[in-house]
Amino acid sequence: MEMGIDIGYGVTKAVRADGQVSYFRSIVGVGAPETFGLSKSNFTVVEVEGNPYTVGEAAEQHRLPVITVRARNIIESIAYRALLMASVGDVKGSHSVVTGLPLGYFNADKSRVMRKFKEILPGSEIKIVPQPLGTFYDLLFDDDGEIQHTEFMDKRVAVLDIGTYTTDLLVTDKGTPVAGVSGSVEIGIDTLFTEIRKNLLPVRRNIGSVEIDTALRTNTIKRRGEQIDISDILAENKAAIAANIWSWANARLGTEEDMEVLVLTGGGGEILRNYFFQGNIIVPKSPFLSNATGFCKIARRLYGKVGV
Ligand SMILES: Nc1ncnc2c1ncn2[C@@H]1O[C@H](COP(=O)(O)OP(=O)(O)OP(=O)(O)O)[C@@H](O)[C@H]1O
Ligand SMILES: [Mg+2]
Repeated sequence: MEMGIDIGYGVTKAVRADGQVSYFRSIVGVGAPETFGLSKSNFTVVEVEGNPYTVGEAAEQHRLPVITVRARNIIESIAYRALLMASVGDVKGSHSVVTGLPLGYFNADKSRVMRKFKEILPGSEIKIVPQPLGTFYDLLFDDDGEIQHTEFMDKRVAVLDIGTYTTDLLVTDKGTPVAGVSGSVEIGIDTLFTEIRKNLLPVRRNIGSVEIDTALRTNTIKRRGEQIDISDILAENKAAIAANIWSWANARLGTEEDMEVLVLTGGGGEILRNYFFQGNIIVPKSPFLSNATGFCKIARRLYGKVGV
């Protein structure tokens, strides 16, 4: 089966050629939850070297000791193996997988990731691309493999992928990545959450990430049982983070005239969409899943029998 797998620092996503989509937070807990014989259906447990590991939100909910996946050397870890196994799920047989790496680590880590994937999915075909290239291909091809953004092949396109901890910039010129301008910076949605939390201190303390995630959608937060409007604080912080990201990207891009299309993607692309004001902006249908969707489209083109 052809599939796209995007192991992000925050969320792991998998898109399969049969249309199945799955994603879970990139959290790995040691052991399996004790359910006292009750239903086991709401969490994923994978076995690595004979031991069980719980993957996703459930690892935290069940208070399991959690292995951090934020470090770059995660590739060699049991946690990485667990995330990859959970994203493949119970699909049998050999796989054709396209996956991505952040631009900052692409050259340095590519062969290590290749080795890991081959070890975990023996007999499978693996291709590794820079992460934002997934979004580029997601937009380039529609679901039937027809080219929908013809201009992508003769223009200079900048893909800005705003993730949990990092933002990646990939510039393509006539469809070919331009290495010199592309790169990663450690600003992301986590930075936004930290700033919002700081700014909300006079209003409330101890606000969890889930609550901030909700607040970003509802523009309100609970205080002493009452929903209060925090849209001004949210807007200010979103604008500030977007401006920071843009000034970093702009310094890499040089003159803005060089860039004809700006694509905003990643979970953060969705959240910060209205705070970028540069000319021709395109946002994929589902920015959060766009890299994985594009990886799957590449896999189908490279390895699939279908005409995509
Ligand atoms: N359905 C969803 N589930 C979880 N998070 C979502 C969803 N939709 C949007 N988001 C937002 O997307 C953010 C994560 O973005 P994304 O998945 O692009 O990061 P990542 O790829 O894990 O991080 P990085 O690129 O730093 O490795 C979350 O912080 C959340 O706010
Ligand atoms: Mg990402």
